[in-house]
Amino acid sequence: MTANGVTVVGAGYVGLATAVSFAHLGHRVTCVEKDPARREALAAGRPPFLEDRMEELLTAGLRSGHLSFVAPETADYSGTGFVFLCLPTPQAPDGSADLSALFGAIEQIAPQLRPGSIVVDKSTVPVGTARTIIDQLDRPDVGVVSNPEFLQEGAAIDAFLRPDRLVIGADDPSAAQAVAALYAPLNAQVMVTGLASAELAKYACNSFLATKLSFVNAIAALCDLTGADVGEVTAVMGADRRIGTAFLRPGPGWGGSCFPKDTSALVATAARAGFDFGLLRATLASNRQSFDWVVSLAAELCDGRLEGRRVAAWGLTFKAGTDDLRDSPALEVIGRLQAAGASVVAHDPVVDRCAAVPTATDPYQAAVGADLLIVLTEWPVFATHDLRRVADVMSRPVVLDTRGLIDPAKARAAGLVYRAIGRAGGAPARVRAGDARSALGQPDRHRSPEPSGA
Ligand code: UGA
Repeated sequence: MTANGVTVVGAGYVGLATAVSFAHLGHRVTCVEKDPARREALAAGRPPFLEDRMEELLTAGLRSGHLSFVAPETADYSGTGFVFLCLPTPQAPDGSADLSALFGAIEQIAPQLRPGSIVVDKSTVPVGTARTIIDQLDRPDVGVVSNPEFLQEGAAIDAFLRPDRLVIGADDPSAAQAVAALYAPLNAQVMVTGLASAELAKYACNSFLATKLSFVNAIAALCDLTGADVGEVTAVMGADRRIGTAFLRPGPGWGGSCFPKDTSALVATAARAGFDFGLLRATLASNRQSFDWVVSLAAELCDGRLEGRRVAAWGLTFKAGTDDLRDSPALEVIGRLQAAGASVVAHDPVVDRCAAVPTATDPYQAAVGADLLIVLTEWPVFATHDLRRVADVMSRPVVLDTRGLIDPAKARAAGLVYRAIGRAGGAPARVRAGDARSALGQPDRHRSPEPSGA
């Protein structure tokens, strides 16, 4: 490790995106990863998960010599300028964040750090953790900075290289400046805050977005009951600049490795601080209600009975553009369908096997003999499948599209009974197309392509 090199501890989504992107910016990066198989694959240029541009930047970094991977036992922190902590902070049984991996790393690195180096926390950690790191390090000659990440899986590299803002929480302005300098080539907006604010801001962002989604999904359920169309309603909402157009796509509920964990952790942090964050508890409950709502619509489409029904599920990942199944809404819904007695066969374009459900590698194969096809993940390819072929192989040609992906007119023309969440029988949006597009189509570069009419 060179004197001004960057060490990244942890080669998960955050760590790897950070490591390859810093190498891309010209820094010398050493990435510390404990899993030997993952380390070996990475050193051979093979990313452990599907992520846009990851392989390209990984191989470029290895080839240029700017990027290397080492085991924790052989990592030498004595020459590095910056140590980025990118370790998992999973949910503990009480809903709080489990910080054992983070503190384990601190214990290891504390005696090795050279004076003047800076420890940067990028893991999502409860407010107050940086202070605990300072205490545990017990190295007044080493800086501690909180630099939360706002990467979205599937667009992680792009989000790193073109961030909305960089958040740098620090007590010491010179440490904040040194960390900001690492990102200088990005010309990004830098927001320097206190340590606690940086930590809380990360949770505030994720929890706010989760709340926005719970709200939209509740509106979609209300649309189902009142005859309103969620595509029209969200177009009107999104045209209000105070609300904004992003994160208004209804779905089967939200999930992934971050929103559920971070929302629960903020509820737990608030409770410990003496505040009952009832709004967020409602956000979480509302998400469970969304999964249940989807299952009740599925039952309705199966004449009120899921027991003994064959259901084809398109989509397993928690969203499109990733192969991540962690806390996937698709799996939540599939689990509930199975619990109600349905036998489910799933198809996903990037997941061949899944412990929770039998899979078919072919979308039409999954639909053979099905009483219902349910679309659960917003993979754009699902909108391009041959719907006549789908209708032909199903036992009852009925589709429940929880992502509003499939064109209702095409589905009906193919002989399918089509129903989308919040669309009162799947009616296409009546908002004039041009207006709807300008209201919802303003490019949010992190988003998957907007489903038709939503
Ligand atoms: C989320 C945040 O968006 C990132 O800013 C944050 O950095 C990251 O967590 C993290 O904490 O590491 P991510 O988990 O990759 O990113 O997923 P999102 O793209 O936010 O999607 C989360 C869930 O919301 C998915 O299930 C997705 O399908 C759903 N979603 C999203 C909708 O149902 N509708 C939308 O309009 C947008």
